Amino acid sequence: MSTFLVVGANGSVASEVARLLAAQGHSVRKGTSRAATEAGQVHLNLLTGAGLTEALSGADGVFLFAPPGHVNHDELLIPVIDAAKAQGVRKLVLMSAMGANADPSAPLRKAELHLEASGLAWNIIRPNWFMQNFNTFWLHGIQTQNQILLPLGQAKGSFIDTRDIAAVAATLLSTDAHANRDFDLTGPEALDHDQVAAILSKETGRQIGYQDITPEAMQAGLLGAGLPAPYVGFMLLILSYFKAGYAERVTDSVSQVTGQAPRSVAQYAHDHRASWALPAN
Ligand SMILES: NC(=O)c1ccc[n+]([C@@H]2O[C@H](COP(=O)([O-])OP(=O)(O)OC[C@H]3O[C@@H](n4cnc5c(N)ncnc54)[C@H](OP(=O)(O)O)[C@@H]3O)[C@@H](O)[C@H]2O)c1
Repeated sequence: MSTFLVVGANGSVASEVARLLAAQGHSVRKGTSRAATEAGQVHLNLLTGAGLTEALSGADGVFLFAPPGHVNHDELLIPVIDAAKAQGVRKLVLMSAMGANADPSAPLRKAELHLEASGLAWNIIRPNWFMQNFNTFWLHGIQTQNQILLPLGQAKGSFIDTRDIAAVAATLLSTDAHANRDFDLTGPEALDHDQVAAILSKETGRQIGYQDITPEAMQAGLLGAGLPAPYVGFMLLILSYFKAGYAERVTDSVSQVTGQAPRSVAQYAHDHRASWALPAN
């Protein structure tokens, strides 16, 4: 029985990490940048460092990632890694992103390298694009225009279900089988967005298509949704990597760590089909 700090525990991956660790009988501190209102929650704001010392005190392990919306990943993550080391935390699992290790000067890679050199037991998990983007970030176009609207041509992605990412993270935190290793996490197959749209159509009974939009249209949409300009620039950059084919690779890391095959897009779509229900007329 260990004590774990799960940063950003209201998040889609982190909430499942917290649930899985608690189900294994561990004590879980659920970080939130808001006021802690529920039992088990701790206030922790990565932008200001507020609550960091208290949240880490007596923790054996930490699940860490940079909340979306920011591009200074190293500035957000390195203070947590250093404080974890200073406070005697044993292991830290960092969720990064597939491809982050391609450029040593990238802020996320700087945080990864800092963790590897920290003296903590560590794992780095680099998930590919989340399946759950289709029922969150890309949902508006699907609901209002019956279209997945993205500037990705016919490039394929080996999308991963956030539940599989969380299962990997919980296993890595609670066992020592894979200490000090990194894993690129993908789903079981690479699909293009016409194929994803066909799966969503089949599951929902709706006609959902894919429209290959220009990067400029994507940029206007993201800025219009209120995202900060530097983060929009970062999104366009990583979307261009997807379009160039860098999201196609399939790995067997999920089954290597958990012993379970990762979920398919068809399984994800089935489980989330209520997300794409249209209001009755
Ligand atoms: N989406 C993708 O396709 C994809 C692919 C690869 C990697 N990733 C990585 O996955 C991460 C996002 O994961 P996710 O989608 O599971 O996250 P998420 O659902 O967006 O949740 C992020 C959580 O962070 C918390 N948070 C916000 N600001 C915070 C702050 N200043 N300090 C501490 N916590 C804060 C929020 O909870 P409170 O409001 O309670 O604080 C929120 O629930 C990012 O690092 C991204 O780079 C995403």
